[in-house]
Amino acid sequence: MMIFIKIGGTVATNPALLSAFLADLAFLKDRKIVLVHGGGKEVTAVSEKLGLTAEFRDGIRLTSPAEMEVVDMVLGGKINIDLVRRARASGLDAVGLGGQDGGLFTGVPRTIQGLAPNRTGQVTQARTRLLDVLVAGGFFPIVNSTSTDGSGQGLNINADEAAQELAIASRAESLVFISDIAGVLKNGNVIARLDEQTLEAEIAAGVIAGGMVPKVRSARQAVAAGVGKVVIGGYQNPGDLVKLLSGITGTTIL
Ligand SMILES: Nc1ncnc2c1ncn2[C@@H]1O[C@H](COP(=O)(O)OP(=O)(O)OP(=O)(O)O)[C@@H](O)[C@H]1O
Ligand SMILES: [Mg+2]
Repeated sequence: MMIFIKIGGTVATNPALLSAFLADLAFLKDRKIVLVHGGGKEVTAVSEKLGLTAEFRDGIRLTSPAEMEVVDMVLGGKINIDLVRRARASGLDAVGLGGQDGGLFTGVPRTIQGLAPNRTGQVTQARTRLLDVLVAGGFFPIVNSTSTDGSGQGLNINADEAAQELAIASRAESLVFISDIAGVLKNGNVIARLDEQTLEAEIAAGVIAGGMVPKVRSARQAVAAGVGKVVIGGYQNPGDLVKLLSGITGTTIL
């Protein structure tokens, strides 16, 4: 059974944090691990340099056709390539992939009321055969969240949703979301265990907001679909990955 680890842009683009994190992964080499990454803040930064304005709804980016090109360049290009290079330097036999590769995850544009169709996608199919082949061959897959629809156009999938769909499709043993924050917070404290009713109540109350909304919902859907252990947490120090995998730190979703 595989373990899926999703990292946000903050870990992916911080060289010091990343090398500690990759050393943790190299230590767990005999486990079947797949890395999925986001990079939302980095996409926004490049979009703004090009004069595009990033727009969000419920923590999810609305992706114009012009911004889809930025998503491809930043997530599928810069961040994914850089992660593969650094993982290889840490002794991992890394391979870079996106949702379109081998049909890992594909979808349709999301329809959002009152808005023109955009390139933000919703996953309709996940197929993990390519990951099985790579992992069985000893490779370490690093997956970005670009994807495609049936017409050959690009789709931008929220990386939390991509990780959720892959973990469900492969009947994963566990799924860990590593963000720029120690867990799901309330009044500055990490909530150790979070069930569906409480997470929806905290979203309604505005305690859980922004990018944490799609993350807790993806986490909850993974639990509901049978993924063994689902944790949301942060990465600060060498060794943190093992603590997150065992649920000692971070927020465990029930
Ligand atoms: N209750 C909460 N607890 C923790 N974080 C919260 C909460 N409410 C809102 N947030 C925000 O959610 C953010 C994490 O989501 P965000 O989408 O920014 O990062 P990510 O998903 O880890 O990275 P990426 O989007 O690049 O993949 C936190 O940095 C924080 O600002
Ligand atoms: Mg996010």
